[in-house]
Amino acid sequence: MKSSANKPTLELNNTSKETFSSAGFILSAIGSSVGLGNMWKFPYITGLYGGAAFFLLFTICLVVIGLPILLAELTIGRGSRGNASSAFTILSGHKYWSYFGGLGVLAAFVIMAFYTVVAGWTMHYAVQSFTGKLFSGGDFGAQFENFNATLQPVGWQIVVMIISVFVVAKGISGGIEKFNKVLIPGLIIILLVLMVRALSLPGAGAGVEFFLKPDFSKLTVESALVALGHAFFSLSLGMGTMLTYGAYVEKRQSLGTATLAVGFGDLLYALVAGLIIFPTSFAFGIPSSAGPGLVFVALPAAFDAMWMGEFFGGLFFILLAIAALTSAISILEVPVAFVMDKFRTTRAKAASSVGALCLVFGIPAALSLYGPLSGFLPGGKSIFDWMDFLGSYVLLPLGGLVVTLFTGYVWKHAGQEAGLTSGWYKLWMFLLRYIAPFLVIAVFIYSIYSNL
Ligand code: PHE
Repeated sequence: MKSSANKPTLELNNTSKETFSSAGFILSAIGSSVGLGNMWKFPYITGLYGGAAFFLLFTICLVVIGLPILLAELTIGRGSRGNASSAFTILSGHKYWSYFGGLGVLAAFVIMAFYTVVAGWTMHYAVQSFTGKLFSGGDFGAQFENFNATLQPVGWQIVVMIISVFVVAKGISGGIEKFNKVLIPGLIIILLVLMVRALSLPGAGAGVEFFLKPDFSKLTVESALVALGHAFFSLSLGMGTMLTYGAYVEKRQSLGTATLAVGFGDLLYALVAGLIIFPTSFAFGIPSSAGPGLVFVALPAAFDAMWMGEFFGGLFFILLAIAALTSAISILEVPVAFVMDKFRTTRAKAASSVGALCLVFGIPAALSLYGPLSGFLPGGKSIFDWMDFLGSYVLLPLGGLVVTLFTGYVWKHAGQEAGLTSGWYKLWMFLLRYIAPFLVIAVFIYSIYSNL
């Protein structure tokens, strides 16, 4: 029996949804998960929390907690054909569930507001690197601060938003899928070129060793919680992104295969990113845990010292920009799908109004690091940091908890929709019911505790 026979036919249930092609869906889901998280956050937290030992923990968290929740999101999306908020009401028949799901929509909105800032930086750095301006400007730390003290980051943020709105407005097959189908293969080629370049640098071996040789004495509860939090962010979980994409997936697509492809793709990308960043920074004597500035401050110094550094540096930032854009469009799609259903409006109108509203909140974030709003530090944090905190550390775990509990305890037909064999189904339910909720709550409490 098809699971759809058990669904309450609420008017929210949008049956005339567009659909992804199979390859288009997998590429778009990988495009969403592979993003700034892999290249900007992952390397510096790996440097900070114990190199290879941290990578191992990250892998375990990704497989044991990340993949079950990823599958749950895709299953809820396809089973309901709803959006990140309505999906839960469609499947449970209870209105209040849409408010819990609404947390995901809010998370997407908040994350989009600051994600576009960092995505904008990558574009600026790509241009500066190709033109050589980056390398004639001296001190990279000062350059980063000076750039952020101007209005330029806002300009680049608007460029990112316009591209994202344009792609999302074009729809699933004509926009999101097409964009990913062109850019993801491009991303893979650039990634391989940069990996070969990095590994062939004299002195690269020390970087590889740091990244791949585990030192278990560095493992702490804290690094485990950071690893789990990052596995969440990296797989784009907890804010309805995968749920929203899942709603456009055809019934014959295997969700289990898609989950494995996305998980493996994200992990492989993180691995290769590490094999680019650590050898490059070690070869030029740059400390591995240089903090969030690693990519924008430390790496330019390495490219500066490298043969054809303008070219390889430019390529590196283009890689970052592509990864960021394919994630940004998946984030934007969450509130856009919600607004389209809720206000029964067209895609183009929903995308442009959500994009504009998001900029109203995002522009202050862009100006809050070294710009005119940098003096405004309520509770000791900049607007940018508050948004990152609220989105990544508060709303994402809460959204993840909603998905876990809903699939584990509330929705009775998840198994049919996911199409798992009985053994896999039992394992999936075990993880969703008894393991994931507790670990997600632990991450949540830890994040609040360590950030406030
Ligand atoms: N997974 C993306 C990254 O690694 C970020 C993201 C988070 C995208 C949540 C969508 C939803 O950068």
